[in-house]
Amino acid sequence: MKYIDDLKWRYATKQFDTTRRVLPRDMLKIKEAIQLAASSYGLQLYKVLRIEDKALRKKLRAASYDQSQVTDASHFFVFCRYAKVETGHIDEYLTLKATKHAVPFQDFKEYGDQMKTSIIENMGADKQDIWTAKQVYIALSNALSACAILKIDAAPMEGFDPEAYDEILGLAEKGLKATVILGIGYRSAKDDSQFSPKVRKSLETLFETI
Ligand SMILES: Cc1cc2nc3c(=O)[nH]c(=O)nc-3n(C[C@H](O)[C@H](O)[C@H](O)COP(=O)(O)O)c2cc1C
Repeated sequence: MKYIDDLKWRYATKQFDTTRRVLPRDMLKIKEAIQLAASSYGLQLYKVLRIEDKALRKKLRAASYDQSQVTDASHFFVFCRYAKVETGHIDEYLTLKATKHAVPFQDFKEYGDQMKTSIIENMGADKQDIWTAKQVYIALSNALSACAILKIDAAPMEGFDPEAYDEILGLAEKGLKATVILGIGYRSAKDDSQFSPKVRKSLETLFETI
């Protein structure tokens, strides 16, 4: 299966080749892979920011333990979760669903009310925040897989100060919170990590049949 070979090929890139850019047609595929990620209820309670501004990327690198991928990757993304789930987010999804299914919005009222009760009324702020963050990682994973299939390198990173990112990017005003970051591009020939053997638990350790 080619996909497994692609996953063996990929690695968390430490050093990017600063001279190479990802082509727009490949970027579109990666974006579509993110768009098609599964999410709880299908709500997609996140937004992905692409940071192009060089000065901003320098500032973000300083808030990311000076990890070079932040400035040196061809493209750099900040995956953000919604800071708080609002009834409007659920209605927005149901409006889209009603349009796609060609049925009246009203058909989903009961379903919408159930979602609102479970997510907004019952979940509590902390649990909601963790739940929303989890969705973001599924989107990140889709991006990593798409990159591997396209033979594009990627650096997923949690080594950054989320509060500093929120401040630098003005995320509170956008109702967002920085969750995980991703640099994509092409590996530098000097990046020794590409030659490291993969370290993974054996299938016997990882799986158990009960
Ligand atoms: C959510 C997440 C956060 C990570 N954060 C960082 C990071 O901040 N810096 C870094 O160099 N690698 C980071 N990594 C890369 C992991 O260390 C790497 O995926 C793991 O060691 C397995 O190696 P491989 O991806 O090269 O196979 C992160 C990976 C994930 C999935």
